[in-house]
Amino acid sequence: MPLILWVVYWCYTVVHFEKYLRKIPGKIGLPLFGVALEVRSPTKLLEYVLQYHRIYKSSYKMFVGSQPYLMITEPEDMKFFLSTSPLLKKSEVYDMAKRWLGNSLLISSGDKWRKQKTMVTPAFHLNILKTFIDVFNSQADVFVEKLLEESHKGNVDIYPLAERLTLDIICETIMGTSVNAQNDNDCKYLKCVQTLMDIYLDRAISPILTNNLLYFFTNTYRKEMYATKVVHDYTNSVIAQRRKLLNNTNEDSKDSQNIKRKKARKALLDLLLEYSANDPSFTEKDLQGEVDTFVVGGYDSTATAVTFILYCLARHPVVQRKVYEELTAIFADDPQRKPTSADLQAMKFLEMVVKETLRLYTPIPLIGRKLENDVDWNGVTLPKGLMILICLQCVHKSIDYWGENFETFDPERFNIENNKNRHPYAYVPFSAGIRNCIGLKYAMVELKCIIATTLRRVEVFPANPDKDVILKSAIMLKPINGVYIRLKSR
Ligand code: HEM
Repeated sequence: MPLILWVVYWCYTVVHFEKYLRKIPGKIGLPLFGVALEVRSPTKLLEYVLQYHRIYKSSYKMFVGSQPYLMITEPEDMKFFLSTSPLLKKSEVYDMAKRWLGNSLLISSGDKWRKQKTMVTPAFHLNILKTFIDVFNSQADVFVEKLLEESHKGNVDIYPLAERLTLDIICETIMGTSVNAQNDNDCKYLKCVQTLMDIYLDRAISPILTNNLLYFFTNTYRKEMYATKVVHDYTNSVIAQRRKLLNNTNEDSKDSQNIKRKKARKALLDLLLEYSANDPSFTEKDLQGEVDTFVVGGYDSTATAVTFILYCLARHPVVQRKVYEELTAIFADDPQRKPTSADLQAMKFLEMVVKETLRLYTPIPLIGRKLENDVDWNGVTLPKGLMILICLQCVHKSIDYWGENFETFDPERFNIENNKNRHPYAYVPFSAGIRNCIGLKYAMVELKCIIATTLRRVEVFPANPDKDVILKSAIMLKPINGVYIRLKSR
């Protein structure tokens, strides 16, 4: 009986959606399964998506089970979906993170999202970012020490060290506190954040874990509840401490000196606390959700970026030498000096290296949307409820925009001349349009600081033996067998 119901449901949905989508190239796949058997493997999903992009040479459809997806792979189509306001709603995959992140900036839509965006945007002003440079520098110094410690054992897996680094940085700049993940191997907070990220990625592609009803009976659900509690308890305790500090008005006390110092480096949490004091509709739960969202948004993708920038530099000694020469010229006056905002702006070639790495290893390769209404697109009516997957990685590996050698690591693609006539949506690692990444400038400053600090102190080389990196991807890109390099002190 369940099988008959499944067959009827599959036939109904395929016929219903095909009424609208039949002119769009793509695959219905096997009866009942669609392309599920091909795409359900986390290490194959992105490969599959890229392969079909090459076959169809345009945006395309695919059915996973009975669920149709429109895969957007072309810059002009991306522009349409990312800049059209009524299409803003995030797909249901994002709802899986709601227990952890609440209905925060990353997940919400409509007026709520607009209000949240207005509230947090001032925290990302360049003048505030400049005050974070000290944190980026000092945490990057710890990172180099850890790299050197590990290098005594031989090859170094960069990713776990990069994760600890970026978590320390984001917690210090967003919450104004340190979780000390780089020095504390047993950091419970880090382990729980990692658990939640893994669960979230696994749920996005597992037919059992995607189903909310079945999910409640799994061990994974219990793990999620435990990790969520640990993370929330930590965030709530930091919020309480920070509120107490800010409310303490005794100018002469030691605390007040502390507040002054920390206020000069305003954490995002301070702004949210000020906001919540004036707006009772912004609850304690909202506060915790926004803080946790920035921790997640800010730590995972930058860890992936740090990892692959060092990996690419290790494999391209000529590029590495050029970055090092640029740094040597910038710090010619005092080789021991820490980077300032002006130094970071002068690191033009390093910026090209960062951009090229984000093109080849896009930390968030796919983003999802769901249509709230019927939409007219290229003469086709797309029905309400259709899931849209926007493949940022596809456009970064398109022959049309990056040539036959699109797999080659070449930072010169981003020099002024080559940048001139490129479609504005052909390079979108931070997404684009009204819902793009709020942390774009923060991330670029942070990445330049980390890589400059690292390369000034160490030279990086390919691992020996060098092995291919296996990537897992659903929404985020993650290496699953380590990303190894060798290094030596300069
Ligand atoms: C290399 C680093 C980063 C990359 C590649 C990246 C990429 C992205 C992408 C592609 C989106 C769009 C997601 C979607 O539409 O579903 C996004 C959104 C977002 N990012 Fe980032 N991000 C990075 C760093 C950061 C940092 C450092 C922060 C915070 C400090 C941050 C906070 C956020 C937030 C809060 C959103 C949601 C914005 C909204 O929906 O209005 N990201 N990011």
